[in-house]
Amino acid sequence: MAEALRVGIAGLGTVGASVARVLRDKAAELTRQCGREVVVSAVSARDRKRDRGIDLGAAKWFDDPVGMAQIAEIDVFVELIGGDEGPSRSSVKAALEAGRHVVTANKALLAKHGVALAEIAERKGVLLNYEAAVAGGIPVIKTMREAMAGNSVTRVFGILNGTCNYILTRMEAEGLSFDACLKDAQRLGYAEADPTFDIEGHDTAHKLSILTSLAFGTRIAANDIYMEGISNISQADIRAASDLGYRIKLLGVAQRTESGIEQRVHPTMVPTASVIAQVHGVTNAVAIETDILGELLLSGPGAGGNATASAVVGDIADIAKSRPGFQHGPVFGLPAKELRPYKKAQMRSHAGGYFIRLTVHDRIGVFAAIAKRMADNDISLESIVQHAAGPDTALQKTVILVTHETTEAAVRKAVDGITKDDHLTDKPQVIRIERAE
Ligand SMILES: NC(=O)c1ccc[n+]([C@@H]2O[C@H](COP(=O)([O-])OP(=O)(O)OC[C@H]3O[C@@H](n4cnc5c(N)ncnc54)[C@H](OP(=O)(O)O)[C@@H]3O)[C@@H](O)[C@H]2O)c1
Repeated sequence: MAEALRVGIAGLGTVGASVARVLRDKAAELTRQCGREVVVSAVSARDRKRDRGIDLGAAKWFDDPVGMAQIAEIDVFVELIGGDEGPSRSSVKAALEAGRHVVTANKALLAKHGVALAEIAERKGVLLNYEAAVAGGIPVIKTMREAMAGNSVTRVFGILNGTCNYILTRMEAEGLSFDACLKDAQRLGYAEADPTFDIEGHDTAHKLSILTSLAFGTRIAANDIYMEGISNISQADIRAASDLGYRIKLLGVAQRTESGIEQRVHPTMVPTASVIAQVHGVTNAVAIETDILGELLLSGPGAGGNATASAVVGDIADIAKSRPGFQHGPVFGLPAKELRPYKKAQMRSHAGGYFIRLTVHDRIGVFAAIAKRMADNDISLESIVQHAAGPDTALQKTVILVTHETTEAAVRKAVDGITKDDHLTDKPQVIRIERAE
């Protein structure tokens, strides 16, 4: 049997401790599957005394993950610290430069420095595996990088943040407010004390930027993503969506268009009958649309110690199975130096259907004025109805419009015009409709 693969784990929190536990509990299976043993030979975290619920006594302890990355006694450096700078970046860089394979679950690090790190890995002939960085336990990276060779991706989209999906699911199922659902998510450990990163779409954007690079062979451009979170989604939107045959999901979408590639994260209406609309609670899903395959949807657990450890251990096992001297495939599907610059499509040219909810003064002529603003901007309406979605009174009413395909620029101009006409009693709500099978 080949020599054991020696693993160093940096970060022993939710994911790191789970990875150590899975490697211990599944040691016999992994040895059989990989044809060699996988052993944890070194670990690093901040607090040496903390009880991690697992005996790591046989592994050498390092206070400094950079020091651990450079020692000769490990073959694979597993980074589970988190953050896009500081110890995670410096230790991953040091490990790659020292010729160690790296496995990471760190989307923030890859979104910011992924291409530069891939260049080092490819120069050194080592692997940089990151399955757990996007959609936790769902094997989407492997699927896109390996199983879909020859396919040209036209669009990739997904539910990439469990916290947001949990909140939207409960709002719809139980008629609760956004704030009430967020509080519950925090109590249950699904949301951080400061939830901004999740609910305003940053976490989804990090993951989307990695998927975009894999899908379209472009350099990662995490700062070029149009982003809207879910904090202004109300019961009025959820109820109106449901009556119209839609469900609201926070989606990350990357799509090839004539003017470039769109990358956008925003609340989206998807048909209630579509497969992605059936993805509830903290579950994640990624849909990949290609010329050969059509639409593929993967769904499953996107976070949590065990689900994430499953993806990390899969990445470690791939390294254990790789043969010395074998040329590894490139990190983002194409050699890092051949990734094209990202050509951004302007959000104003986005084409699609729109849901518009307006709270208006209850007076004669308002409907006609709204319809005129739409017509003036060449927007064709699928429907315009007065709806009992909002807090209607004798003085104000809710009007819901659904457009046929139009552009973002036209919708913004029309809604600006309606706002200037002084018919609104509240801020207008605009939600994009996404085509989904
Ligand atoms: N949690 C999930 O469900 C999930 C899902 C997918 C991806 N991820 C990603 O996985 C990574 C880890 O997440 P996590 O939830 O496991 O985080 P976590 O529970 O906060 O654990 C972080 C670990 O890093 C250690 N650490 C922090 N600074 C360090 C330093 N300077 N030197 C050495 N160790 C240091 C901490 O040590 P101490 O314990 O001693 O403080 C802790 O063990 C992140 O990149 C995250 O985005 C997490």
